[in-house]
Amino acid sequence: MRKALRPRAGLMSPWLLASLLLIAAPAYCKTPAAPARAPAAQPAAAHPPGTAIASAHSLSTQAGLEIVRQGGNAFDAAIAVSSTLSVVEPISSGIGGGGFFLLHDAKTGRDVFLDARETAPAAATPAAYLDAKGELNRDRATNGPWSAGIPGLPAALVHLAQKYGKLPLKTSLAPAIRIAREGFEVYPRLEKGYGSRREVMERYRGTREVFLADGSPPKAGEILKQPDLARTLELLAAKGYDGFYRGDVGAKLLAAVKEEGGQWKPEELSGYKVVEREPLRLKYRGWDIVTAPPPSSGGVAMAEILQILEGWDISKLDPAHRTHIIAEAMRRAYRDRTIYLGDPDFVKMPLARLTSRDYAAGLRATIHPEKATPSDLLSGQPAPLEDDETTHFSIIDAQGNRVSATQTVNLLYGSGMVAPGTGVLLNNEMDDFALRPGTPNAFGVMGFAANAPEPGKRMLSSMTPSFLESKDKVIAVGAPGGSRIITQVMLAVLAYDAGLAPQQVAAQPRIHHQWMPDAISAEAGALDADTVAKLQAMGHKVNAGESTWGNLQTVMWDKAANTLSGGTDPRNPVGQADVLSSRP
Ligand code: DON
Repeated sequence: MRKALRPRAGLMSPWLLASLLLIAAPAYCKTPAAPARAPAAQPAAAHPPGTAIASAHSLSTQAGLEIVRQGGNAFDAAIAVSSTLSVVEPISSGIGGGGFFLLHDAKTGRDVFLDARETAPAAATPAAYLDAKGELNRDRATNGPWSAGIPGLPAALVHLAQKYGKLPLKTSLAPAIRIAREGFEVYPRLEKGYGSRREVMERYRGTREVFLADGSPPKAGEILKQPDLARTLELLAAKGYDGFYRGDVGAKLLAAVKEEGGQWKPEELSGYKVVEREPLRLKYRGWDIVTAPPPSSGGVAMAEILQILEGWDISKLDPAHRTHIIAEAMRRAYRDRTIYLGDPDFVKMPLARLTSRDYAAGLRATIHPEKATPSDLLSGQPAPLEDDETTHFSIIDAQGNRVSATQTVNLLYGSGMVAPGTGVLLNNEMDDFALRPGTPNAFGVMGFAANAPEPGKRMLSSMTPSFLESKDKVIAVGAPGGSRIITQVMLAVLAYDAGLAPQQVAAQPRIHHQWMPDAISAEAGALDADTVAKLQAMGHKVNAGESTWGNLQTVMWDKAANTLSGGTDPRNPVGQADVLSSRP
């Protein structure tokens, strides 16, 4: 089978070529981060020559570098980047939401997965989300107080400062506080997203106070100020955990949820805890990959996909067979995601089996080299699309510390509900639970018992912040995009393995398959017409030329050349990768 799929060696795959051409096209041109270059060191350098940060907004990237200039490390910078994103990207993430922070502490050599995922309030039973006919009440699942889990992000910022940072929390939060108070320029994505969530957002007094402060919705080019959010961040800076989860802000959050008909118990808010988990580790063709364990599905799915793919030298496959094999691997991993995965503190999962090479070999053996496997033939229940909001940032500092963090309020502007007087926009992460078994959520994702809501449980996520390490390279990478996060990160592994630079990795056209719907999704430029025709002849449904998705942010330390560089997704015009050299 492997032989039959092998084309002549030495030809660059047209898919790769397309990626490279696309990067050269003006529409996709962004200024890649200038590498901070030190004289080539042999053997590999012990420390990076500065700090590299890639994030979805230039203000958050610069906030991180500002903190490094003040003597902060990657973890202090992560607090600055994260909190600034919460201010300038309310569409994607915020202190009313949650996230995952993958950390590498250079001093101890330890990798930690900091889980700041939201938790379910006890009132959020499956029955609470059903309408009179027993159908899923979609409005309740995605809008307003019932859609919100207990926020995790503020606790993560406090934890990062206390345990890993060098600077006081107050210092690292200062840029976000300043930008919340002085305002920032609204960009088109924010305006457009507001338009699509306007009806929901304007239901809530607190939201109107922030977004209609001057009488009309935010418009690109205008300055958006968030004085209440500045004050909430100041309380967090001054009082730490208690500044958000208890006291004035905590009381206002509880009152707002109650006023809008929701039910959070005070102890659910005041008792929220981040969890430090062991990251999931896997190997792929000479790369050591450190990535997200449950309650993310990302690491498990990526382990399955990459270990299935190891049966081929996929760089040598022609585009149609390459896409076929990758899609078949994705299909199988997403089936397992739907059935088995959930919060490890609540469900038993066959993780050792799902991530083993033997299991991957078994799945590989079910892939026909020339024919698509209809998803219906794989046992289990179906699981389709999510949308692409959320945000990711990647940092490597001069000591070799690393952060790869993905944070979210889930859908555009989360629940749409700001708690009056706090500036805190609550998430709508409850929709990531399987609120009604087998019923798709807003974006078609479904699940079963493993991901049913229970008091205090974390909803299954696809967020996949990751580190990749080879003999010469250290990389931090991740992306938003709902269920398409996992395949974006997995394609980034393949691209780095093929020798692409970070900016090329961020720009490369994407494909995706998630078992259900049973179709390959492809961005424009990912598959040419001939490849699509060949895939169709194998039995694949191909949705070629879908609108783009994702917003990948990555940084790389090339140890052999001792350079730092970054890649920011050109699909998002306000992102920025930048490098601060520590050597004048
Ligand atoms: O945790 C997750 O997987 C989702 N809440 C992420 C959402 C996302 O990327 C935005 N897109 N819908």
